[in-house]
Amino acid sequence: MASITYKGITLPVVDYYSVETLSYVENEFQLLDDDVVTVTYPKSGTHWMLEILNLIWRDGDPSWVQNLPVWERTPWLENTDGLKLALKYPPPRLLTTHLPFHIFPKSFLSSKAKVIYTLRNPKDVLISLYHFCKGLKMMEDPGIVEDFMESFLHGKLPYGSWFDHVKGWMVMKDRPNIFFITYEELQQDLRHSVERICQFLGKELNSQQISSVVENASFHKMKDNKMSNFSLFPDTYFDHTKGKMMRKGISGDWKNHLTVAQSERFDQVYQENMRGVSMTFPWD
Ligand code: A3P
Repeated sequence: MASITYKGITLPVVDYYSVETLSYVENEFQLLDDDVVTVTYPKSGTHWMLEILNLIWRDGDPSWVQNLPVWERTPWLENTDGLKLALKYPPPRLLTTHLPFHIFPKSFLSSKAKVIYTLRNPKDVLISLYHFCKGLKMMEDPGIVEDFMESFLHGKLPYGSWFDHVKGWMVMKDRPNIFFITYEELQQDLRHSVERICQFLGKELNSQQISSVVENASFHKMKDNKMSNFSLFPDTYFDHTKGKMMRKGISGDWKNHLTVAQSERFDQVYQENMRGVSMTFPWD
């Protein structure tokens, strides 16, 4: 795979990624105090969180998510077109990124911008990514799961190591302007999760508005909404016959793909890498 590398992170060569943009985002992009940024490692529930936030932003009214593609509602910082949109977005801005902490805008450290970091069982991340990569034209075919898993465990995929990403962001966990939530918590109780997110954002929604967020951010609503299901993503970059953004939307699908031996190998690398991490997760 032809790739660009910036501070240890490789991204495939595509016209919307460049070293210059990454450097600008890290060093010059100014986060504003009323910005809200969704941060994830890929396939951790990014689009789900974006839908939830977009609906909260509009007090539960679904017309925005039904009429504008997700990447225009919530621009991606690290891609050239997304950055252009972010720079002309009227505040308060909703932004998103997969960037690891060491490349995230340095201006965060002196701002009150809020970050919502969503993470997911890395075995499900692996399987979701495996299927998604089949559609990505700028990536090589992911081959067999076992080889892809080794690339994942060694941090050889776009955005680097899941372990480094999570641990890098966790350094910030005691700051009041960062909120950690898992895909599994969203699955277990979406309504309560929406209430917690609203509380973090200082946004007061009534019961009916929260119900509308929950209903419109459901897997089936998103899957049927062409503004949210990725079907408008250009064919130049993605073969929609081979990959899907809204694939299964469940927790634990890894059990259908990893053998016992592969799962044990994963656990061993997980334990080596996560030793000393004080947070516990639903999959621990
Ligand atoms: P699967 O491939 O396991 O189905 P990201 O947005 O970070 O790329 O993550 C995509 C994953 O989130 C996909 O997982 C997708 O199905 C899942 N997802 C997206 N919206 C969802 C929703 N409303 N409910 C449950 N899962 C959702």
